[in-house]
Amino acid sequence: MNLELTAEHRAIREMVRDFAEKEIAPGAARHDRTREFPYENVRKCAALNLLGAMVSEEFGGSGLDTISYTLIVEELSRACASTGVIVSVNNSLFCHPVEKFGSEDQKRRFLLPHAKGEKLGCFCLSEPGAGSDAGNQQTTAVRKGDGYVLNGTKNFITNGVAADSALVFAATDKAKGHHGISAFIVEKGTPGFRLGKDEVKLGITCSGSVEMVFEDCRVGASNLLGEEGMGFKIAMNTLDGGRIGIAAQAVGIARACLEESTRYAKQRKAFGKAIAEFQAIQFMLADMATEVDAARLLTHRAAWTKDQGGRFSLEAAQAKLFASEVAMRSAVKAVQIFGGYGYMNDYPVERYFRDAKITEIYEGTSEIQRLVIAASLLKD
Ligand code: CAA
Repeated sequence: MNLELTAEHRAIREMVRDFAEKEIAPGAARHDRTREFPYENVRKCAALNLLGAMVSEEFGGSGLDTISYTLIVEELSRACASTGVIVSVNNSLFCHPVEKFGSEDQKRRFLLPHAKGEKLGCFCLSEPGAGSDAGNQQTTAVRKGDGYVLNGTKNFITNGVAADSALVFAATDKAKGHHGISAFIVEKGTPGFRLGKDEVKLGITCSGSVEMVFEDCRVGASNLLGEEGMGFKIAMNTLDGGRIGIAAQAVGIARACLEESTRYAKQRKAFGKAIAEFQAIQFMLADMATEVDAARLLTHRAAWTKDQGGRFSLEAAQAKLFASEVAMRSAVKAVQIFGGYGYMNDYPVERYFRDAKITEIYEGTSEIQRLVIAASLLKD
């Protein structure tokens, strides 16, 4: 792996950085306050082809590598962590599995409009009783004639409020455990599919998280992704890629904490001098800078490993675990450096603090990442 970014990587990073600073960052505090889904951000990202970054050009994507994708998510999240995850979910959790496991017909029907950003996707694995224990799916899909009938409830679904299509996991044969789970694409407007309660959150407040309810919701057999019983493997493979996106989101939040804190420390005066002149502050900035670099390197290594083909669960879990904990530590330090102002919403660091926490929870908690890492260490 080459540690230097290529000229193309640097160009993508500069383009998205400029875009995010001018078009995304100015509205971030307002969206955080109103909790309104940032439809205009999604439209602008779609215009730059950021919603299907890694999808092949044949299916409407940009055909970029995974390092480019992490640069995109880092820059967007540095400006607005909600926009970062909205884009990440469409890329990693919807487009990727449809491209990898879908039929030609499914790629034309579902991948193309989602990769172009004409439509938005979401990923429905979590249930009230199946979070970390994702194999314990209570949503069922029963084969009836030429289709399936879905019943169950999904919760905490990022993008849910705005999504045109949902990738839904359901038990087709409960007796087979995780081998009896299948994946379906369910479109908005399908009878029996409705949004449930709006999820009110601590951070990333405008990423459109909702509950989704399926009541005798009938989908055609052509909406089954992969084969019956493949759903758990599709979910796990998809989450490996998704975790790289969340690692990049965490790097973006941590960098925002570092950059705001550095700027503030140079301006704010106490005891007759800028607080940046105190070693207590310098040490915090130094630790943040070192950890942000380390988190990004792990994230790029995971992205590079994914692009080599083969399994990358270990690298993705390590990147997600480390980067999310760095985001949280950086946010704690940023609020401390800002002191009382850090606790107020006059400055963005209290938002970063609230946004950082979710990166240690969704797409597998830090504890789940440690299990994945340990399983890799201990196998045979
Ligand atoms: N890729 C492919 N296959 C995999 C895999 C992977 N990464 N990980 C496991 N598998 C396969 C195994 O090989 C095994 O297959 P066989 O039975 O055929 O041998 C099967 O899956 C079961 O594996 P495990 O016994 O390891 O499974 P488990 O039940 O112990 O669960 C787990 C493992 C790691 C705990 C898993 O359940 C997990 O990742 N849980 C966390 C779920 C999660 O991340 N949820 C996030 C929700 S989505 C979200 O957050 C989106 C959002 O809002 C942004």
